[in-house]
Parts: sequence; structure tokens; C-alpha cells
Amino acid sequence: MPAKAKIITKVLEMIYPLHDSVVAIEFQKRGLYLDLLKKVRKGANVLEIGCGTGRLLEGLCGKARAVGLDISLKFLKIAKERLDKCGIDFVYGTATNLPFRSGTFEYAITYTMMHHLTDKEKVQTIKEIKRVSKTYLFGEVGKRLCWSAILLKIIGSKSLLTKRHIEEAGMRVLEWKDVDQFCLVHGMAR
Ligand SMILES: C[S@@+](CC[C@H](N)C(=O)[O-])C[C@H]1O[C@@H](n2cnc3c(N)ncnc32)[C@H](O)[C@@H]1O
Repeated sequence: MPAKAKIITKVLEMIYPLHDSVVAIEFQKRGLYLDLLKKVRKGANVLEIGCGTGRLLEGLCGKARAVGLDISLKFLKIAKERLDKCGIDFVYGTATNLPFRSGTFEYAITYTMMHHLTDKEKVQTIKEIKRVSKTYLFGEVGKRLCWSAILLKIIGSKSLLTKRHIEEAGMRVLEWKDVDQFCLVHGMAR
């Protein structure tokens, strides 16, 4: 991994407990992950890119053949232990260069991951999603003038996901829905 990516991963590992023990738990409690996951066909092959400690993938336990990918070995270890009995595979890798054959998955998902990437990296990641998967499902902070978007900016996140990133990567946005919590949008592209 390049030195810059290593530093970013270390910083993420330091601030992540806040996301995991406060934000992700709230997403779970309020049914936000499940709202997106209800689009997933039972038994489908699913990839989550930037799976962290596996809070979203928990919602697919026993329902789909899922793979979680992340750049942090530390988070992957926690996810593996947490979802030990779910038959989910965890893979170390980076979003911009997915280590899978073309057409491996029916769905690829990102949830509050895209703000870690530059504009160029987002487009490259969605190109990779298009290569490995039929459908892209996303739950991302998508509203600019909003408290969580401003907070992300303060803690040094990159730009937010927009429809333009998705279209530039050659996918068509089929759904873009305001969730009205945490400034999130849920959506689907093909
Ligand atoms: C805010 S967390 C969200 C985790 C999970 N999706 C959830 O909802 O709890 C963002 C995750 O994206 C991962 N990540 C950041 N940049 C990445 C990259 N280039 N490739 C893969 N994962 C990345 C981080 O390590 C972290 O686990």
C-alpha cells in the first residue's frame, strides 16, 4: 500500500470507534441499513466496499452470499469475529482496484464510504463497481448544506458523492432518495 494510503488508514482507525459505536449503531437501530438492503434479492452475491466492522453486512447474515472489502485489516478482523457464523467472506483491498473478476456480483454496496475518496477515485471506484457488479446500491451523505456534511468537512473528508460521479463512470442513476436522517441519500444505479 502506498505511504499516503497507509497514513489515511491509520487516521481512519483512530477515529473509527466514534463511527462504529455511535453512528453505525444508530444506523442499525433506525433501520437505515435494512432500508437499503431490502432491495437485495435473497441468495444473491453481494459485495460491500468499505465494510468497516461489518455493521451493514450483519443485515445480510443468512440471506445472501456476501463479501466485505476494506483497506483496514483491523476493521476486517473485528468484522470477521463479529460475523463469524454468517458465512461472509472478508477481503483486504482498495475500492479503486477491486480484486474480483468481471460480473462476480449482483449487487455492490457502499455505505458512508465515498466521502473518503477524491472525485477521481470515486469515478474510478464506480467504474470498478460497474465491472464487477450489475447493480450499485449506495447510502451516502449526499446533502451539502447539512450538519453531518459540514462535520465530515471539518474532520477532513473529501467531496460528497453526487449523481455526476456515477454518470461519469458510465452508470445510470435509477433512484436517489433523501433519507431525512444524517443527511443521507439512498440510491440505486445500473
Ligand atoms: C465510515 S466507515 C463505514 C463503514 C460501514 N460501511 C458502515 O456503514 O459502518 C468507512 C469505511 O471505508 C473504508 N475505506 C476508506 N477508504 C477506502 C478505500 N479506498 N477502499 C476500501 N475501503 C475504504 C474505511 O476503512 C472504513 O471502514
